[in-house]
Amino acid sequence: MIARTEEKSEPLYPAYLPHYDPLEKVEEVGRFEHDDPGHRADPLKPNLLKHATKVFDLSPHCGTEIHGVQISKLSSEGLDEIALLCAERGCLVFRDQDYIDIGFEEQRRIASHFGPLHKHGWMPHPKDGPPEFVIVYDSKEDLRIRKSWSRKSPIQFHVDQSPEAQPPGLTFFAMLESPSVAGGDTIISSSVRAFERLSPSFRKRLEGLNAVHTTANPIMRELRDNGNQAVLRRPITKSIHPVVTVHPVTKQKALFVNSSYTQSIVGWDEEESDYMLKFLFDHINRGQDFCCRVRYEAGTVVLWDQRVTQHSQTLDYAAGDRRHAFRLTPLANTPIPSKIEEDDGECQKDEARVLLNLC
Ligand SMILES: [Fe+2]
Repeated sequence: MIARTEEKSEPLYPAYLPHYDPLEKVEEVGRFEHDDPGHRADPLKPNLLKHATKVFDLSPHCGTEIHGVQISKLSSEGLDEIALLCAERGCLVFRDQDYIDIGFEEQRRIASHFGPLHKHGWMPHPKDGPPEFVIVYDSKEDLRIRKSWSRKSPIQFHVDQSPEAQPPGLTFFAMLESPSVAGGDTIISSSVRAFERLSPSFRKRLEGLNAVHTTANPIMRELRDNGNQAVLRRPITKSIHPVVTVHPVTKQKALFVNSSYTQSIVGWDEEESDYMLKFLFDHINRGQDFCCRVRYEAGTVVLWDQRVTQHSQTLDYAAGDRRHAFRLTPLANTPIPSKIEEDDGECQKDEARVLLNLC
């Protein structure tokens, strides 16, 4: 039996309520030099972990939860170590964070440690808050999120804003109010493991390919759902990125196509491209053994590195139950293409296994 409590009548964080202005425009960040903080980090992470009371992995391939550490109290070196650990583990979970109460400017200052903050083209920000804040607000008085997913599965693994020329790296997601019962978790999937799980010769086929990423579909949905109240702060963004990328710090290879934004593979006929992308999206969707699932409470702050993970919402709690969060999204490097390695013998090993009837 699920215990259900009535939604509190007033939101706990009114200053963070979403503001929709159909006339507002924002400037894009533009090109910048990215010096990833992970490069500066001590591999042992002493500044991040010295006060930790508990550190445990959420799954073998993705996700680590850290207790006893307040992100707001970390030194610059501690934040550098967050960048490295998040690159290594894909996602970090911090509980009971006073980060949600330190105000717009401090929240923005800390997130900016990792790169210039993205300004979203259609998601709301607070009325009197900086445009870099993305507000996720699902409540009985604001059903825009429900509406946008009403004719589409809400389970959709994606990289936030991959059509940017320099897409996001480490990303902050801070929960202000969570549904009164279980639900509203985020599923985070390792893009490194998604690539590793493919067979050696298939991996080699993907390396060197490029794909088109565009915001066209989400913008069309915003127009369809909200008509003359649609928020369109920026024109459609489009970029070409490698299908397989390399993390600038860990050098790990990752599959970098996602079902929200990746439209086609450059140079392939439409049928070929659709066929390949559908296979890759299905491969990611099926990857339950390289995911972790994060449950929220008020004060939970989740960080994920978009260069090595994808994530999906779970819109599984009752419509009208309040879920209120904000996201800050530092931009990072231009995606680095992976190179096909010198022949590592893996393909020949496959052939030998067939000839010896080992598979
Ligand atoms: Fe997202």
